[in-house]
Amino acid sequence: MAEAKLSSEYRDKRVLDLYEQLLEIEQRLIPTGLHIFGRPSQAQEQSDLLRLIASFDRSEAGARAITDLVAQGLGLTSPNDKDTSKLLIDERNRINALIGDAMRIFLKEDAEAAELYLEREANVSTEQLKPIFSLLKSVSQQLKTNSELDSLMHALRGDFIEPGPGADLVQNPAILPTGRNTHAINPYSVPSAASFARSRIVAESLLNRFRDERGVYPQSMALVLWGLDNIKTQGDGVAQALWLLGVRPVRDALNRVTQVAPISLEELGRPRIDVVMTVSGIFRDLFSPTVQLLDKAVRLVARLDEPHDLNYVRRHAREQMQAEHCEIDDAVTRVFSNAPGNYGTNVNFMVMDSQWEREETLGDLFVTRKCFAYGRDSKGRPIEGREARAAMDRALARVEATYQNIDTFEIGLTDVDHYFEYLGGVSKAVEKRAQARPAIYLSDTLARDVKIRSLEETVRLESRAKTLNPKWYEGMLKHGFRGVAEIENHVSNTFGWSATADAVDDWIYSAVANTFVLDEAMLERLRGLNPHSAHSLVQRLLEANGRGYWDADESSLEKLRDISRSLEDQLEGVA
Ligand code: BEZ
Ligand code: MG
Repeated sequence: MAEAKLSSEYRDKRVLDLYEQLLEIEQRLIPTGLHIFGRPSQAQEQSDLLRLIASFDRSEAGARAITDLVAQGLGLTSPNDKDTSKLLIDERNRINALIGDAMRIFLKEDAEAAELYLEREANVSTEQLKPIFSLLKSVSQQLKTNSELDSLMHALRGDFIEPGPGADLVQNPAILPTGRNTHAINPYSVPSAASFARSRIVAESLLNRFRDERGVYPQSMALVLWGLDNIKTQGDGVAQALWLLGVRPVRDALNRVTQVAPISLEELGRPRIDVVMTVSGIFRDLFSPTVQLLDKAVRLVARLDEPHDLNYVRRHAREQMQAEHCEIDDAVTRVFSNAPGNYGTNVNFMVMDSQWEREETLGDLFVTRKCFAYGRDSKGRPIEGREARAAMDRALARVEATYQNIDTFEIGLTDVDHYFEYLGGVSKAVEKRAQARPAIYLSDTLARDVKIRSLEETVRLESRAKTLNPKWYEGMLKHGFRGVAEIENHVSNTFGWSATADAVDDWIYSAVANTFVLDEAMLERLRGLNPHSAHSLVQRLLEANGRGYWDADESSLEKLRDISRSLEDQLEGVA
């Protein structure tokens, strides 16, 4: 069998796949330290950041992606090209090396020197390069200044603070300078035309990934929508939901998105997917018209006279009405959030406090917190946070895949406990109600070509690129006490993915134990800087083993228990 598979073609493909995976980890932009309020960012981090900013088309600055320009100048395929197999590894390395050199020259000398370098070495005219370097110049200057402390003083005095957009620096460099009064967006502008256009690719990739794995489209999906994310992207999450349902936003005479219209089944080329949306309290508050829009979209799709195998919303609504003799209003509730005035799922708190025995409690808690319906009934009467537990149970019981969009390189799955409380929480709730674990996906819309990853793949990537990466943890350890707390947070958040979704490989826990606890020198550093967090980290590993998430060898466990006891002694002042 091995011989047949090991044809040279197969081998080349395997090597290229491995190379792609290594590149993915290597090139992943990670924060290498914490932001210190009032202090400008460090120069050594700027080169990678500027390079990432320059690798996107920036129509607002009249600039084309520098990777495309260099590839074109050299007569090669751009690394941004979807079909990476066309691109030889050597060619990609050459393009990246040239751009890396240009960034260093830019930071050391100036834009003109970098432009001349690329003109000479990559045959790109300085005219084509000017827009991108002038954008980089302004970003780099603004990164060097920091008026956060001044702004804070203004705020404390009740003075005016200049407003600025809220986004990720790569998504929108106009967020600089920091220290301004972050403004949201007009909810009626969501989703923007650009967001709706790019979200089609994400929605289709998501459905294709599921179909590749299971042979059919999912009939029903659960989506998590957050407020800040939809501000940053002008509505990517919302637009993805609309695409899955197969409707487009329609603007009124005042250019406000207030309606939706069906996209024809011919244009869609696939069934309309039933979507259950769990929106955060922040989303509900900031995007009230959008909540209405999403509810309207579901109701519209349920009313379309279409075959059941091409319209899963209609199919499910009809089936439910027949089986339960209920009204349409009971069968089309899909937009859920907290009770009015309430926020969060509390799943994170329950996990962090180890206050649970059975995993299903975590999913049940999610539903208890999130089973409040929003929208308007078929008579046009507002539904504003009406408790609808049965409707949510019913909707989640059909779900085959859960999904959340990640749109920033700054905060990922293991940086905060919110991803597992939401995506993990809803997935665990589905698992009990559908009696099957859903496929769990995340999209990475940071890279130019959309990547859909399974939860397991994303946890692996995050662990390799952050928690277990010396560049990341050494960056954290420079912050002393707080840095150790960050490392411990990452381990606990990783644990959250075991508790809610059993998505963490054993080797990740083993590697965490080996890196931070069983390495004597490292343990000494952690306990010197922050014995509390060091103790919590060891306890979390022991909990992972105790709950069956980590199959560790007995001698490592024995060492962990000894270390835990000695840390306890240290904390109690006995040692
Ligand atoms: C939100 O933007 O909706 C959000 C932010 C943090 C945690 C959860 C939700
Ligand atoms: Mg396991």
